[in-house]
Amino acid sequence: MSECLKDIEREIMNCRKCELWKYRTKCVPGEGREDAEVFLIGEAPGKEEDRQGRPFVGNAGKLLNELLEIANLKRGDVFIGNVLKCRPPNNRDPKPEEVESCSPYLIRQLNVVKPKLIVCLGRYASSFVFDLFGLKFDGIGKERGKIRKVKAWNTVYVLPTYHPAAALYKPQLKEVLVEDFRKIREVLKKDTLKKKTLLDFGIE
Ligand code: URA
Repeated sequence: MSECLKDIEREIMNCRKCELWKYRTKCVPGEGREDAEVFLIGEAPGKEEDRQGRPFVGNAGKLLNELLEIANLKRGDVFIGNVLKCRPPNNRDPKPEEVESCSPYLIRQLNVVKPKLIVCLGRYASSFVFDLFGLKFDGIGKERGKIRKVKAWNTVYVLPTYHPAAALYKPQLKEVLVEDFRKIREVLKKDTLKKKTLLDFGIE
């Protein structure tokens, strides 16, 4: 029987596969529609996300909500997840071993939702998704805004862009994020094929 998002969430709640469980207030499995066409991926929970157990609810989340509106989407229309489900202390960068332990949850979530478009927020999410689909990642500055087409459960589009938090420090990046989020509407107009699983294409 195929799993659902709740099954994965229950496992994440009890997860102790890396050290990060020791520091968490709440883990942040991600949230949204089980059949969302758009799946957004961030890096890891920050302070407010750790407090609430929900993704993108701090300042970066406020900007993300604005960007979703530009794409004619609401949070309830999409799925929002992260590469790591627990907050790294002081928001430090994820360690490779943490990504390795945690990312199978994200892959399983992708396999349940089977989105048509994956929006990668920032370099961690982008490089993870590029690796997953065997694409070469040339850095977020070069890759952002270029939509890739990959074969997974069906034709899946991958849109790498900056992390909304980056625009909080460098306001000029907000325009770039707006430009990238405008592309979402175009992608959603494209036809959808029958959904398959990543395993059908040899990706575990
Ligand atoms: N930054 C992220 O990458 N993810 C969140 O959920 C919040 C901030």
